[in-house]
Amino acid sequence: MNPTSAILPISIIGVGSYSPDQMLTNADLEKKVDTSDEWIASRTGIRQRHIAGADETTSSMGAKAARCALEKAGVQPSEVDLIIVATCTPDMPFPATACWIQKELGSAGAAAFDLTAACSGFMYALSVGEQFVKTGAAKTALVIGAEKISTVLDWTDRNTCVLFGDGAGAVVLRHISGQPGIRSTVLGADGRHTDILHLSCGSNDAPSHHPPKPGEPVFMHMSGREVFKVAVVGMHKAATEALERSGLTLEQISCIIPHQANIRIIEAIADRMKIGTDRFFINVQNHGNTSAASIPVALDEAISQGRVKKGDSILFVAFGGGLTWASSVITL
Ligand code: UT7
Repeated sequence: MNPTSAILPISIIGVGSYSPDQMLTNADLEKKVDTSDEWIASRTGIRQRHIAGADETTSSMGAKAARCALEKAGVQPSEVDLIIVATCTPDMPFPATACWIQKELGSAGAAAFDLTAACSGFMYALSVGEQFVKTGAAKTALVIGAEKISTVLDWTDRNTCVLFGDGAGAVVLRHISGQPGIRSTVLGADGRHTDILHLSCGSNDAPSHHPPKPGEPVFMHMSGREVFKVAVVGMHKAATEALERSGLTLEQISCIIPHQANIRIIEAIADRMKIGTDRFFINVQNHGNTSAASIPVALDEAISQGRVKKGDSILFVAFGGGLTWASSVITL
């Protein structure tokens, strides 16, 4: 990287994603826990989710998504000088998943680090990557959201195991002269809600975080109903602020791409925005909640399905453990 003081608008020039082949349907889950397709579909909108194979890791999925994004951008791995991976399920505490991905891609020399903001992680990473490229500190940034959430789910807990899936999505960032690119970003968090959604690793756990005993598996814990309420308010507020800061009106937004956690959360936000859910891109039915991978996977699918195209303005909005939230307006 080469620090300078340029302030440049930054564009997404390539998008890619990867979803594991292995599918887990609601019918499959009926055989594992006391649940039903009817309950899952009506309460969440989820019908199936992709689950990583035993030989797949967060970094292997992230590398596949990144390769796809680089190919679409027409950028060689050697041209990448910054890799940021948003994940709360890294391959290991260190080296960073970004370093494993760098090795896999052959981008030696690029700065590489991980960032955690749970399901808002990709949006946080996008903003961090933007700052580097905007100032000229990096020329080509690879921003990846990748998760192997299936490894931190308690498969006997119906409150959580039916909600999540694995996958990865990636974007390539560069300054392109004359393109507005990322127009506005709002990031926020409220640490008073750390208790209602967390994944304890045992190193620094408050007793309320159910720290696992040595040798015990590490699982995610969530008070779904409480998360739901804060998510709707936080996402609506962040989206409204990002839109205001962008200088665009809601009518000028071609598509809203929300974090895909629950169809009812998306419906509640649409309600507050006084618009139909047809303005939103929704793929939660096929993926479940893939945490930091959710938004870039949805963006890639929205592009490949022709739902958004070059020149369109998109509103992203996410929330996650922390609780964290994030929203951004981008013109592709
Ligand atoms: O990215 C951030 C991640 N977190 C989220 O997005 C979570 C946000 N919250 C939610 O999406 C919803 O709160 C849930 C989908 C998690 C739960 O839906 P809900 O409508 O809030 O249900 P609830 O937690 O109030 O539970 C209602 C009932 C309970 O039974 P009782 O106490 O009424 O007898 C639960 O035990 O549904 C029961 N239940 C289930 N039943 C069948 C909970 N999970 C299941 C299940 N199958 N999988």
